[in-house]
Amino acid sequence: MAIERTLSIVKPDAVAKNFIGGILAKLEGAQLTIIGAKLMRLSPAQAALFYGVHRERSFFQELVDFMTSGPIMVQVLEGENAILRNREVMGATDPAKADAGTIRAEFGANIGENAVHGSDGPETAHEEIAFFFAQAELQPR
Ligand code: CMP
Repeated sequence: MAIERTLSIVKPDAVAKNFIGGILAKLEGAQLTIIGAKLMRLSPAQAALFYGVHRERSFFQELVDFMTSGPIMVQVLEGENAILRNREVMGATDPAKADAGTIRAEFGANIGENAVHGSDGPETAHEEIAFFFAQAELQPR
């Protein structure tokens, strides 16, 4: 199996509710290693750029407003099949449809305030990691 890296975001709803620790514990419990992390706040321009693929969607402005409403925690995860493994432990986008035990089932409120983001494939993982982190900020081990 391939060792991969993926980008994970603890979204403003989950940071505000003090769920950072609970979420990172779930990620580490899924054999994902945190090799970079930072607490930060996105500007509207950064959020619009990050979610540019969704700019034609009806919920785009809502998404940008939400993602800039408070601090987020961004982390790079490394491990075997990290991209898929992260998506599995996150659960379905809509917390109401997420399997029991997943992050979104446990910590998400609704499809907008769904606690976490994770890259959806190798190309987006590469782009999303580079969006937030310089190589020197990553500590592989
Ligand atoms: P995320 O994995 O961060 O990728 C895009 C986000 O858009 C998604 O999680 C949801 O939080 C959000 N999203 C998707 N569908 C809707 C919707 N119908 N209304 C509001 N937000 C949505």
